[in-house]
Amino acid sequence: MKNVKQITSDMYKENLFLVPTMGSLHRGHFSLIEEAKKSGLKTIVSIFVNPKQFNDTNDYQKYPRDIQKDSMNLEKLNVEYLFTPDENYIYDDSFLDLLSSGEIGEQYEGKSRPGHFDGVLTVVNRLFELIKPKKVIFGKKDAQQLFLIKDYIGRTNKDIDLLEGEIIRDKSGLALSSRNLLLSAKGKETASGLKKQLETLKEIFLETGLVNTSIERTLLRNKDGLLEIDYLEILDKDTFSAISDKTKNFIIIIAGYVEGIRLIDNIDFRIEG
Ligand code: PAF
Repeated sequence: MKNVKQITSDMYKENLFLVPTMGSLHRGHFSLIEEAKKSGLKTIVSIFVNPKQFNDTNDYQKYPRDIQKDSMNLEKLNVEYLFTPDENYIYDDSFLDLLSSGEIGEQYEGKSRPGHFDGVLTVVNRLFELIKPKKVIFGKKDAQQLFLIKDYIGRTNKDIDLLEGEIIRDKSGLALSSRNLLLSAKGKETASGLKKQLETLKEIFLETGLVNTSIERTLLRNKDGLLEIDYLEILDKDTFSAISDKTKNFIIIIAGYVEGIRLIDNIDFRIEG
């Protein structure tokens, strides 16, 4: 594996498959890398904790980092390139302003973390400009991020094939996330409640068809003083907005805090007719 801090022009001759990450890699990332390897293209994993997507400096500083362990894991996975740029390479002198993630970028996750998705789109776009990948993969756990990046690639006509990686969970149902490293064993147990909320809401919504009532009932049924819910919503997966009579693909999204750590999760389902 080559560990590069900058992209060189000879790398453009290779057909690259980009797996963008912020490091502290876990099985969720490994499954994205395995998908990339299946394509037969050369895999480049970027590790860059992007300051522009954190609205809280404390959160940025606390974000787990372990480049040595990551590098060993990537070596084992036969990744061709590890890209660990410095901040001034990503945001060089030509950097002017953040991209806008629009109205949807200001809702849900974006409402609680103002500017988060502008920062995400900006860094992802910069990675695209620098690496010029043929393919890229993002995990479904960050559903709103995935929606906004897909939309961005579509409206800017980028010639990049975007793949979606499944959510990987532990035995308790907790979606794997680098932030789980910041939780105690008890905290992880509490955090598995996020998935339970999602499943309960799906069950009640399928019974009643009523969004608000289903959300209220779900929150009452699963009340847990240790899990502080920020939002729980049922949306149209294709528009990432309120559902309508036309909705076929549904997504339920949740965010909450456990031991002061922000966690997100989602499930999706389809209803025909
Ligand atoms: O999902 C992430 O890890 C980050 O938001 C990403 C896409 C690497 C951009 O910094």
